[in-house]
Amino acid sequence: MNLILLGPPGAGKGTQAARIIEKFDVPHISTGDIFRENIKEGTPLGQKAQEYMNKGELVPDSLVIEIATDRLTKDDCKDGFLLDGFPRTVEQAETLDKFLAEAGKKVDHVLDIDVAPEILMERLTGRRVCKSCGATYHVTNIPPKVEGVCDSCGGQLYQRDDDTAETVGNRIDVYNSQTKPLIEYYEKAGNISHLDGSARLEDLFAEIVKILGE
Ligand code: AP5
Ligand code: MG
Ligand code: ZN
Repeated sequence: MNLILLGPPGAGKGTQAARIIEKFDVPHISTGDIFRENIKEGTPLGQKAQEYMNKGELVPDSLVIEIATDRLTKDDCKDGFLLDGFPRTVEQAETLDKFLAEAGKKVDHVLDIDVAPEILMERLTGRRVCKSCGATYHVTNIPPKVEGVCDSCGGQLYQRDDDTAETVGNRIDVYNSQTKPLIEYYEKAGNISHLDGSARLEDLFAEIVKILGE
């Protein structure tokens, strides 16, 4: 099963991805996570990506496409994958389609999670992420049992550099102008489902399972 999670920053893509990969046993491929790992390790790719990410801009297509397609050639993707945050431009989507077609594959499902902008701001400025395992929390919506500490691994929680009010505002604008056109792109392909991301986490996941099948 080849899946794509589409939706604005803060829609809950990463949160749902954690559950989807557990149930459907596919690798989680988040281009944002790949960039953040590179930033942490101080690689040249990380340094380039950081300039764009801190401003809430998209990293240039040429860089992102290479990283994503390279990841998709790995052995663990042969029976399926879950893309989170890729593609994000029409050019990325077209390149992905060509890349998959060459391997005799296609995108099976696009899950489009939508949430109103005022909710996105509150979700992102309140998000906390585990430094060790990447688990995602929210200070009020989905708080950890102990403040600042990850429930699953005891790691320290931190706030992403791009989760400030100013950067979040720009990320939402960039989503609307550059990524939203993908909804129409996949409408034409006929493989997109629209989901209400303001629903409770477990209810949204139940909807996703209904769409993908048990
Ligand atoms: P990326 O890391 O992909 O960030 P994003 O798309 O902005 O999305 P987020 O991770 O912020 O949100 P999410 O939907 O995963 O929400 P989450 O589940 O965490 O990209 C970062 C940057 O990298 C980009 O800005 C760009 O610069 C670059 N980049 C990456 N990919 C690129 C590409 N393809 N092309 C170009 N550049 C690229 O949830 C958010 C919060 O809400 C959490 O606190 C969570 O606990 C809470 N929450 C989740 N679900 C619920 C719920 N149902 N109810 C209440 N609260 C909830
Ligand atoms: Mg995410
Ligand atoms: Zn953790």
